[in-house]
Amino acid sequence: MQTLTTIKALRATIRQWRQAGQSVAFVPTMGNLHAGHMQLVTTAKQKADRVAVSIFVNPAQFSPHEDFNRYPRTEAQDQAMLQEGGADLLFLPGETEIFPQPAQTRITVAELASRHCGANRPGHFDGVALIVCKLLNMVQPDLLLLGEKDCQQLLIVRRMVADLNIPAEIQSVPTVREASGLAHSSRNGYLSPHERQIAPLLYQTLCSARDRILAGAADYTAISLEHAQNLQQAGFSVEYFNICRAQDLQPAGRDDKQLTILAAARLGETRLIDNISFSKQ
Ligand code: PAF
Repeated sequence: MQTLTTIKALRATIRQWRQAGQSVAFVPTMGNLHAGHMQLVTTAKQKADRVAVSIFVNPAQFSPHEDFNRYPRTEAQDQAMLQEGGADLLFLPGETEIFPQPAQTRITVAELASRHCGANRPGHFDGVALIVCKLLNMVQPDLLLLGEKDCQQLLIVRRMVADLNIPAEIQSVPTVREASGLAHSSRNGYLSPHERQIAPLLYQTLCSARDRILAGAADYTAISLEHAQNLQQAGFSVEYFNICRAQDLQPAGRDDKQLTILAAARLGETRLIDNISFSKQ
């Protein structure tokens, strides 16, 4: 696996692959890789001749009070995992390579980014859309792989790619969970041993809300409130627990069949998000 730090070198390598007629899959990450990221790499390998992975902790998607400075940076370990996982190229740029000057351009997927995490993290999804768009312009992959754990991010990137006619196909990959049900996340590393024991309740509570709906309960406001309260009682500080239409993450109505329940909650200083999607009869 090659590790490249400049856009110029990245483009030169990808040009060689293209000239040899090879297809390219791309996995963007912020590093501190875990089983969820490695599942993206494994899927990418099945779908394309070459796999490029980026690691860039993107300052544009963090607000000033958020965890940009303490976000775990574990490049040596990540590099070893990618090598082992069979990635062909790691793009590991410094901040000035990506942002030689502060970006003046904003990409806002207006409606989708205003809800859920977007309502609690103003500007976050503009930062995500900007970096994903920039990386797509640098790599120009056939296929972009994103995890379903960041379900709102996935829909926002899908919409941006459609709106801007970016010629990449998007492949989403199911969330990888620990045996307890806890979704793998780089932020799990912030949890204390006690918080780690409580954390799986987030997914268990999503499952419980899903099961209630599948059993016929239809008052989504009441179900959301009750399940958010259950999480509060267990020690979470709940940001939102929303029952939505899967296709656009708008509030679900009785007649909607494809649903996604999204939740964000803090345990101490650690913000966890998760979601579950399912079909109603
Ligand atoms: O999901 C992430 O890790 C990030 O939001 C992404 C897509 C790599 C953009 O920085």
